[in-house]
Formats: sequence, C-alpha cells, structure tokens
Amino acid sequence: MKEAIISGGLTMQPIYLDYNASTPIDPAVAAAMRPFLEDHYGNPSSGHWAASTAKTALETARGQVAAILGCHSDEIVFTSGGSEANNLAVKGAFFALRDKGDHIITTRIEHPAIIEPCRFLERLGARVTHLPVDGTGRIDPDDLRRAITRRTILISIMHANNEVGTIQPIEDCARIVQEHGVLFHTDAAQSVGKVSTDVNALGIDLLSIAGHKVYAPKGVGALFVRRGVSLEPLIHGAGHESGRRAGTESALLAGGLGKACELAHDLRQMERIRALRDQFWRMLQKQCEGLVVLNGHPVHRLPNTLNVAFVGRVGAEILVRLDGVAASTGSACHAGRIELSPVLEAMGVTPGVGMGAIRFSLGRGTTADEIGLVVERLTNVLAAVG
Ligand SMILES: Cc1ncc(COP(=O)(O)O)c(C=O)c1O
Repeated sequence: MKEAIISGGLTMQPIYLDYNASTPIDPAVAAAMRPFLEDHYGNPSSGHWAASTAKTALETARGQVAAILGCHSDEIVFTSGGSEANNLAVKGAFFALRDKGDHIITTRIEHPAIIEPCRFLERLGARVTHLPVDGTGRIDPDDLRRAITRRTILISIMHANNEVGTIQPIEDCARIVQEHGVLFHTDAAQSVGKVSTDVNALGIDLLSIAGHKVYAPKGVGALFVRRGVSLEPLIHGAGHESGRRAGTESALLAGGLGKACELAHDLRQMERIRALRDQFWRMLQKQCEGLVVLNGHPVHRLPNTLNVAFVGRVGAEILVRLDGVAASTGSACHAGRIELSPVLEAMGVTPGVGMGAIRFSLGRGTTADEIGLVVERLTNVLAAVG
C-alpha cells in the first residue's frame, strides 16, 4: 500500500515509477503463497504425506515458469534471484567447460551480476571480451562474429537493459553463436513479462529470471538450462534441482514465481503500459522542449521504460525535489553515487547530458493521473532549479 507523504506541510500522493528496480507482489501471487506460509511446511523431497503438497506445488510452479519461456519443466532450475541465476550460468559454464576453452564474450552494458562474475573468473584465468554498444545501447552482431575464437566457451548478452530498456538483437546473435557451437546465455531479468522470452524463438541455451521484477517476491529466480547443457553447480550438497543447485527447495517462493509467470504470460497487458509510457514522453517533450533527451533505443526498448536526460541538469538533484516520486538515476543497484552511469558512458552519452538522466519505469499500478502529476511536478522542479 502506498502511504501518503507529507512534504512542506502538504500531503503528497506517492507515485511509484521504479518498477525496473522492483515490483510489488501481485495480490494473486501473495494468495497463492499464503497456504505455504501457514500450513504446508513439508520438505518436497520427503517420502511422506507432508511432502506431497509441497512437491506438487514446486512442480506446478516449474511448469508455470517453463510456460512463459516455452521450454520443458525439467529445464528450469530455481535460484535465489537474478544474480544467482547469472552466477550459475557464467561460473557454472566456465567450470564445466574449462578443458575446452577460457574465453567469455559479454557486453559493456551488463548488470553487475554478469560483470562481477566475469571479473572473478578473470582472476582464475578467464579472458573476457566486452562488446561495445552504439548510441542507443545496442551491440552489433558483426562485432560478436568477429570476437568469437576457438577458445570461446560462453557468450552472455543481456536481453534488455535495466537502465535504458534497450533490447538486444538476441535472435541475430543466436544464429551466429549456433554456427560456432558455443553456449549462449541471456540475462532476461528485465524482459520476462514485458516482451516475449520464448527460448526457442530467441535461440538461447541459458536464460536468467528475477522474481521481484515480475511481481513475485525478492529472493527467488530461475535459470533456464537447455536439455543437454551441463553446468557445474555453485552450491554443492544433496541432489536438489536435479543436482544443479543444492538446498531444500522453497515451495513458497517457487510457487510465488510460478504464479507470477502465469500472470505475466499474456503480454497484451503491456500495451496499456506502453501507451502510458509514450504519452509520458510526449508530455515531457512538450513541457521541456529542447531540454529533454531520450536515452535508449527509440523502438527496440522495453515498453515500460523511459530513461530521459534533462540536459545540463543533475538527475539526482531533480529526483530529490520531486517529492513523493520513486524513480531512479542510473540503476537502483548502484544508486547513491552522482557519477555518469557506466551504461550511459558505454553508449557514448556525454556527461553534460547523462548526468541529467532519470529512469522512469512504469508497471501494473501506473495510472494516467500519476503520469500527469509527475509531469506537473517535474515542470515545477525544473523551473525552480533553473
Ligand atoms: C538486468 C538485471 N540482471 C540481474 C539483476 C539481479 O537480479 P536480483 O536482484 O534478483 O538478484 C537485475 C536487478 O536489478 C537486473 O536488472
């Protein structure tokens, strides 16, 4: 529930436009989880009556996650979130394929949950190539083609960027990757439920999901692992998740993610959000003529994401004054620093423009009234900061 915010003696309606940072738990997801908080405590791996409800819920959830990806249930490994899924993909592939090669290809605009595992592996002898992006945040598949060597064991290219929303040409990349028989991973933490993430249409072998970006709770995610692909587990122990991730499975969390994926499957609901996002952009252009610039690809972009730069201003300063509006400068994961975001830097955005960037990300709860209010508050703040 959004509580009213008191600012300067006035009550403000809080407005949440940070759905790329996290989403609220959908009420239907919470309802699906509740019996597992209160009643069904059994261990899904046990052999008695208390296990069966949990086991059935776990496998139903696996099927629901598989359905949004168009894959088989046995290709889903539950994890603690997007970061763990990315770590399992990158480190798991490296440790499993060490004998075949040591070269990993990724991009300059990945989330830290890819950049840091790659950096860790570099300390263990991996060689990592970071593909550049153009001014809209897209890689050139020809750069990928040129980067592949006989030592390449893994290619990890994010599906959609968390800061600017740019969607990568994954299908084109997959065709190139398949010619070389290399494993192809995509971080789909931001794209699941916003655009199609059918793993066969995309042509990928590994795909990461983060529950809290898709109206499920924090602390749960999943990795799609194509049949026949074997990864070294990050967590060794008993044979949970078919030996791919040890630890007693949580039917509570998996069930939440499963329900969330079921709800997110119908992408038609994104059209309302896309229309609001586009209306937001048109209103901003009108109110802040010549002062506002769009960051990210104009077309190949998540339908909920609007990253704009207020030229010559500092985004963090605007946000501080934008009472009651939750949005983000850079990405929430590395907020708190007034520095040009590495993603905008990689896109060649100049500091004079990029420092003024604010990411607004819309979601199921966003209304046209809220967008109108934000534009109004933004216009006042911009006039005040000069
Ligand atoms: C693109 C991307 N990948 C991975 C993650 C990490 O996911 P989690 O917070 O579930 O660990 C995030 C979260 O911000 C993200 O945006």
